[in-house]
Amino acid sequence: MTPGMRRKELDALLPTFRELWHAQPFREPRPNWALNHPALTEDLLRLDEAEVEYLADDTGAALKFIARHLPDVACLAGLEALPIKTAARLAIPGERWAWEIPGRKRSQIEAFAGVAQTGDAPILDWCGGKGHLGRLLALVRDVPVRTLEIDPALCGAGQALAKRLSLCQDFSIADALQVEVPAGCHAVALHACGDLHRRLIEQGAKNGVARFDVAPCCYYRGVTGLYQPLVPDGQTLLSRDDTRLAVTETVTASPRLRRRRDREMAWKLGFDAYRRASGEYGYKSFKPISAAWFGGQFPEFLQRVATREGLPVPGRSVREWEEVGWQRLHEVLRLSIVRQAFRRLIELWLVLDLSVYLEMQGYSVDLGIFCERSLTPRNLLISARRA
Ligand SMILES: C[S@@+](CC[C@H](N)C(=O)[O-])C[C@H]1O[C@@H](n2cnc3c(N)ncnc32)[C@H](O)[C@@H]1O
Repeated sequence: MTPGMRRKELDALLPTFRELWHAQPFREPRPNWALNHPALTEDLLRLDEAEVEYLADDTGAALKFIARHLPDVACLAGLEALPIKTAARLAIPGERWAWEIPGRKRSQIEAFAGVAQTGDAPILDWCGGKGHLGRLLALVRDVPVRTLEIDPALCGAGQALAKRLSLCQDFSIADALQVEVPAGCHAVALHACGDLHRRLIEQGAKNGVARFDVAPCCYYRGVTGLYQPLVPDGQTLLSRDDTRLAVTETVTASPRLRRRRDREMAWKLGFDAYRRASGEYGYKSFKPISAAWFGGQFPEFLQRVATREGLPVPGRSVREWEEVGWQRLHEVLRLSIVRQAFRRLIELWLVLDLSVYLEMQGYSVDLGIFCERSLTPRNLLISARRA
């Protein structure tokens, strides 16, 4: 299936299920779909911890679970499948190039470099941090590499690492949102966030970049209000929160981080319940809460947040709100499986928007998976070549 065909199909289907993916059980205790489909809601609320973990992790299984009650959802399952790109064996001379790179990051970079297109165009490593990807490409491809990065300290450290290996890799300290993307280069971008990867693709295509290899991430960065698609004729409208859904899975989070996330969510939900009981109806977004406030006990937390929000200081029943928070969390984790089931499809729609835009600009585009999800869930790679 070409990117254009896949996008057309997905773009027609996603709006018909909007109620399922747009509603956030964290904000609305009972989304509309839960009221309209009580049997699905009951089945979800009955799930044990292991089932919740499994379904929250595996979007294909979650879509099947929902399809038991809403059979139309079954048609979405096949759309997630993408080809896994086959990596060339990289002849990496020694270990010195990988100095300082943590294990999982190194594997991501090696996987990316193994499937990225070859050619003799100079490489532009977009938002490259210390330029680890650029350094590996300079080492194995024998073409000049320029790493563009806004942080001078990262550029300095990267330049020193390149020098140790006498590589042809330069660094430009620059804001990717301001620079002109040079014509004729091979642009690579590993996890350049939101508007950073969008700018590369939009500007780069206009300026005549020869090749792109882009693995996008953090799609919500730079989105205010609604996501502005690069391909204009779509039916799917995504809010910033919808684009954030695409990156919410916790597959690479440790059990300790998950426990911390649960506690933070439960406490926030406890406060939200207290706020609603104090007469403020509806959900109100949380202003950022300092991590230190979650480090103590719940009563202290509730008091601090209530004071900050101008609510009456809670009385003796504080512990009850903590219990309500944990009960709400139990429900939120189960009801959110419906929303979570759509996260890869939404990510795919966003990546297809970029891919089809490139096709419209005269590129031949190949979309696939460049590494295992356990290395990074942001494992989609757009490879495009000017036809
Ligand atoms: C998620 S990191 C990815 C780094 C690298 N590509 C990698 O995979 O290791 C994103 C990088 O973008 C850089 N960045 C953020 N905003 C930028 C901007 N406006 N212009 C250039 N670089 C930027 C950050 O400093 C950071 O190094």
